[in-house]
Amino acid sequence: MIRALLLSALVAGALSCGLPTYLPHLPRVVGGEDVRPNSWPWQVSLQFSYNGQWRHTCGGTLVAQNWVLTAAHCISSSRTYRVVVGRHSLSVDERGSLAVKVSKIVVHKDWNSSQLSKGNDIAMLKLASPVPLSDKIQLGCLPPAGKILPNNYTCYVTGWGRLQITAPTPQGPGKWTEGELLVVDYATCSRSDWWGSSVKTNMICAGGDGIISSCNGDSGGPLNCQKADGQWEVHGVVSFGSSLGCNYYHKPSVFTRVSNYIDWIHSVRTGC
Ligand SMILES: *[C@@H]1O[C@H](CO)[C@@H](O)[C@H](O)[C@H]1NC(C)=O
Ligand SMILES: *[C@@H]1O[C@H](CO)[C@@H](O)[C@H](O)[C@H]1NC(C)=O
Repeated sequence: MIRALLLSALVAGALSCGLPTYLPHLPRVVGGEDVRPNSWPWQVSLQFSYNGQWRHTCGGTLVAQNWVLTAAHCISSSRTYRVVVGRHSLSVDERGSLAVKVSKIVVHKDWNSSQLSKGNDIAMLKLASPVPLSDKIQLGCLPPAGKILPNNYTCYVTGWGRLQITAPTPQGPGKWTEGELLVVDYATCSRSDWWGSSVKTNMICAGGDGIISSCNGDSGGPLNCQKADGQWEVHGVVSFGSSLGCNYYHKPSVFTRVSNYIDWIHSVRTGC
């Protein structure tokens, strides 16, 4: 009986997601907010090997102990990658953080880097070994398939970089950031004075009010949106923005809409 109870407690722990041990300090304004260490424990750093050193290139989300969700545009087939989990600062080694090799990369088959506006900017990375969950390493929750957030819903981008327009450039050690973005619904975002036909229903827009929206976050990283019960869901993967600036009026940041790819994510994980 005790064994069975213990087992079910462990299973429940392993399956839970989106509930950080250290609650984030949510910023109300752009910049200057202190980000609480490890308050986004599903955020990972995707790094590639360059001249014998590992360089941060993109963010990602730990969606299972051995799978990371990121953007297709972060992946270059000629590079060797690793994923760092449980990290706050990229410049100092931290207890509780782990670096794991990537053993398999699955880029969505309909991704085409010269047709960004078609979307499908999504990829899954299989880790060489599953990472143990802890207070600093937790899973991100995926939304239910097809879930659409209403206009003006408040979400947060997190990461070490700035939102970038495709082809992320290798960066030096970064400082952790988070920023608030309001969801812009498809009807609004696809208007001709917004993104027009560059935005599809397989994407989610957020930001672009020209005032409060944040530039913070990483390509490939999560758009985190909290449910009424407190649990966080990852609704977007940072895909593209305006070359005019990351909070240009009526040009919100564009994310791959995760709720459109739930079946794909499942099929990649189960190898079907
Ligand atoms: C990607 O898009 C370009 C430009 O439209 C096209 O020429 C090319 O054939 C596409 N590649 C694939 C693999 O579909
Ligand atoms: C919500 O969005 C609409 C349309 O973009 C805007 O007019 C309105 O001011 C927003 N409301 C709030 C509370 O931000």
